[in-house]
Amino acid sequence: MSTLATILQDEISTATLQKGLYAIAACTLIGAAAYAGYKAAEPETKHLPSHRHPESNEQIEKVLEALRLDDDDKLRVIMQSLEREMELGLSPATHPTADVKMFATYVRSTADGSETGQVLALDLGGTNFRVLLVDLLPQSKVELTSKIFVIPQSIMLGEGSYLFRHLADCLMEFMNKENLNKPGVRYPLGFTFSFPCKQEGLASARLSTWTKGFTCSGVVNEDVVKMLQVAIDEKNINVQCVALVNDTVGTLMACAYKDPNTEIGLILGTGTNACYMEKLDRVGTWDGDYNDPKQVIINMEWGAFGNNHRLNHIRTKYDEEVDLSSVNPGKQIFEKMISGMYMGEIVRLIMLDLIHQNLLFIGKCNGSEDFKTPLFTRGGFYTKYVSSVEMDEGIGFSNTRRVLEDIGIRNPSYDDCAIVQHICKIVSKRAARLAGAGLAVLINRINKPNVTVGVDGSLYRYHPRFKRNMEKCMQNLVSKNIKFLLQLSNDGSGIGAALTVAAAEALSNQEKTKRSYPLSDDGSGKGAGLIAVVASRYLQQLSQSTSTLHNHNNEKVPTQFQKHLSTLQSPM
Ligand code: BGC
Repeated sequence: MSTLATILQDEISTATLQKGLYAIAACTLIGAAAYAGYKAAEPETKHLPSHRHPESNEQIEKVLEALRLDDDDKLRVIMQSLEREMELGLSPATHPTADVKMFATYVRSTADGSETGQVLALDLGGTNFRVLLVDLLPQSKVELTSKIFVIPQSIMLGEGSYLFRHLADCLMEFMNKENLNKPGVRYPLGFTFSFPCKQEGLASARLSTWTKGFTCSGVVNEDVVKMLQVAIDEKNINVQCVALVNDTVGTLMACAYKDPNTEIGLILGTGTNACYMEKLDRVGTWDGDYNDPKQVIINMEWGAFGNNHRLNHIRTKYDEEVDLSSVNPGKQIFEKMISGMYMGEIVRLIMLDLIHQNLLFIGKCNGSEDFKTPLFTRGGFYTKYVSSVEMDEGIGFSNTRRVLEDIGIRNPSYDDCAIVQHICKIVSKRAARLAGAGLAVLINRINKPNVTVGVDGSLYRYHPRFKRNMEKCMQNLVSKNIKFLLQLSNDGSGIGAALTVAAAEALSNQEKTKRSYPLSDDGSGKGAGLIAVVASRYLQQLSQSTSTLHNHNNEKVPTQFQKHLSTLQSPM
């Protein structure tokens, strides 16, 4: 009975169970159909994965992995490689094929703050060009009057003579405005020319290659001081170019004017480069004298590090694309991973990659009109956007939203903003760590207890955490017994050129007793060489004497450049 009862009960429960299962199956089918229908009709944006923390999204991380350079040991390997390349640049046998050229500048020591006077300077290094009037005042004070002029793309890519004519035109306009074009007064001028040059004297330098988007024809291997002087003379402006300096050298000089521990000049702007004070016995290519001070400033041209493929192991497909689409493929590889001319473009290419993988701006870039926006245009994402995006803190993303609207993304979502900021941070941090590793090589090599680095350039100036990221990695890479300081150098390129000119002008005033100024008919190259020769010869005698420059009113301004004269040496 009990067995029968159990069977009956089992039958009842089985039937109930079956009914239940049918019901569930039916519900599942209806549910699945409804879900499928809903999915088909669902707008694209609903597929958005959650990127509240984009860095923890695996797919995005996979894309960005190649750009991470967080391991100090990776940086140490790069440091060793850079130092090897530096040695190749300094040795006469390997210099011709070395990527890091290590040009000797013939500047042998830094100014000490006692220099005073008024000089003109031209500063050409990127898309902007500046004309400056520099007043060096007592106690290392400096007053500047300057005007910025744009260099149009047509001139950057055109004939060299047009470029120098344009510079002379701007100089004339500035002088007219400042009332400096007065008969009988010849102004000395310093030319900050921030491109790789093999210097043959203070006012003689041959361009070895163009960088930063310039390709003007007929200038490579030519003496750029001569070309500038020809253009100036054509305009009948009473100006003599007496010195050419690289912007890194100007920055070092200007910073040393205030801080005697300054041994390095660094530029992080449109391009990047560093210079430093090197011992003469380590400069195999040195062709000058070995008198005191036994040192010379070396313009490294470190932007070309990697041209010989030494950085291939850390380059990404984005770096390769930036390089291939530049006007100088295969050149300035280190610069293209760091500087302002390229950083925005790297970020843009990564964004395009994420869009392509459906990980960013989902459903926002489909129409043919979208492809005409800056986001899809080469160079459409400026490096200043990177700084602006990284300035956003918290969840408001007000800058990032503005930037994204500017490049054609309407109503960016929170996720879009967070991902774009994440990309910017990774790209700029990689750049800062590479530059920091480069500096660490120099600081360790100089090996003095206190080393100040004069730094200038828009990237360093305006990026909210570039300096911090550099310092962080340098703390681990610089020898523990050395204290270093990164010092923003205000207007280094202008002031540094002026300091160098001031010394040359002081000398020329001494020379006037024997020769008229300018010194010779056979070009400023030899003239500058002569200035430098005489500088060392007269160094001792000049310690008590003064020289003159002209102020705004054409009155003679007494100057004391004697100590600075030791910065000038000939390539004898
Ligand atoms: C140039 C250097 C310059 C640097 C920073 C590089 O492209 O080759 O001469 O110092 O940019 O302006």
